[in-house]
Amino acid sequence: MRNIRYLVQPGGALQGRLRVPGDKSISHRAIMLGALAEGVTTITGFLEGEDCLATLSAFRAMGVRIDGPEHGRVIVHGVGLHGLRTPPAPLDMGNSGTSMRLMNGILAGQVFDTVLTGDASLTRRPMRRVTEPLTRMGARIETTEQGTAPLRIHGGQRLSGIDYPLPVASAQVKSCLLLAGLYASGVTRITEPAPTRDHTERMLQGFGYHVQREGQCIVAVEGGGRLTGAAIDVPADLSSATFFLVGASIAPGSNLLLEHVGVNPTRTGAIDILRLMGANIEILNPRLAGGEPVADLRVRHAPLRGVRIPEELTPLAIDEFPALFIAAACAEGVTILTGAAELRVKESDRIQVMADGLTALGIAAEPTPDGMIIQGGTLGAGTVQTHSDHRIAMSFAIAALRASGPVAIHDCANVNTSFPGFVDLTHNAGLHITEQTS
Ligand code: S3P
Repeated sequence: MRNIRYLVQPGGALQGRLRVPGDKSISHRAIMLGALAEGVTTITGFLEGEDCLATLSAFRAMGVRIDGPEHGRVIVHGVGLHGLRTPPAPLDMGNSGTSMRLMNGILAGQVFDTVLTGDASLTRRPMRRVTEPLTRMGARIETTEQGTAPLRIHGGQRLSGIDYPLPVASAQVKSCLLLAGLYASGVTRITEPAPTRDHTERMLQGFGYHVQREGQCIVAVEGGGRLTGAAIDVPADLSSATFFLVGASIAPGSNLLLEHVGVNPTRTGAIDILRLMGANIEILNPRLAGGEPVADLRVRHAPLRGVRIPEELTPLAIDEFPALFIAAACAEGVTILTGAAELRVKESDRIQVMADGLTALGIAAEPTPDGMIIQGGTLGAGTVQTHSDHRIAMSFAIAALRASGPVAIHDCANVNTSFPGFVDLTHNAGLHITEQTS
């Protein structure tokens, strides 16, 4: 892989209006459900990042005709729940945990064998959280001794629905089991310890599949139904927008409008946390797009204060903590995060890697087993390592807005997994990143 380093000039403000790329979670699901549906699915606003392209390629390898992507437009010619074909080789999910875990649920229900593999980061991430409940449903899956990929999935098993209390709040595990549930006899019923993103549930309903929801934490599907192709308008990704919400909040003189952003209430924890810290964020023109809440977000600079982050917001902001840690570093006082041990098993150990980077820039950041304690202060110049994690790279790029000198960020190629065009879009808004390739 190309080695990309960012050199970010300090200072400046974010101005103007922009639309960040499409939602990653929704883009993955649109390809998956489109492929398994009967009829044609037309997707607009699709995220052309490497993660979602890995999902798209996997379905192509299983015989699904997919046209595009072209300017975010993809047409999926669905083959029905039982129309996938044996892929000629192992399916490479790259850096994408969502692809691997959700696909595992789908592939457990097929008549053919498959192997799922991925890059150095993905093959270190825990997969027993999906293989264990799938095995209880009747699937046969081999992992490494450490419970990691490659995953060897044996087809031709009979799956039965289970009643499963999720040990960790994880939309990937929930979605994996719901997708396997489409192939199971009887009802697959999942109880979450706390609400997590519900894009799978919403999209299944959009494709005409009955989903039973009880309160905020119980969801069930019954196998044996069918999906019908649909039109999916993918909103801009709130996780990508968060870099700009934080950047504009910390940089004096900023005033930014972010267009058509997904504001599904199972995703908006970062907005709530930033507002608790004193951020000035307005949610304008709220509307529904293809079953998902969408709005424009206006953010202006505001002085931030440290807070104790309410634990119930953690699953609703799970991907946004790297950026929120930058907000905390620029806030007056101490910010304390607890109850977020999941951050240690993301694309990198986001607690350790962010604490190391903040420390390198002169901020007192103390990692704890399940969170971090950050004393707001003055960000200095320095060099940080991303450990190939896209969100770490983008978070430190935004941090430069308040740094006293240039910030060098190593190992940024994976920004393309979730945010192609990040450097150009930030440039237009007022942050100057020089990319150095070797
Ligand atoms: C995702 C769920 C979350 C999130 C990931 C995308 C999804 O993972 O971190 O980026 O699309 O379902 P977990 O379910 O592991 O928390």
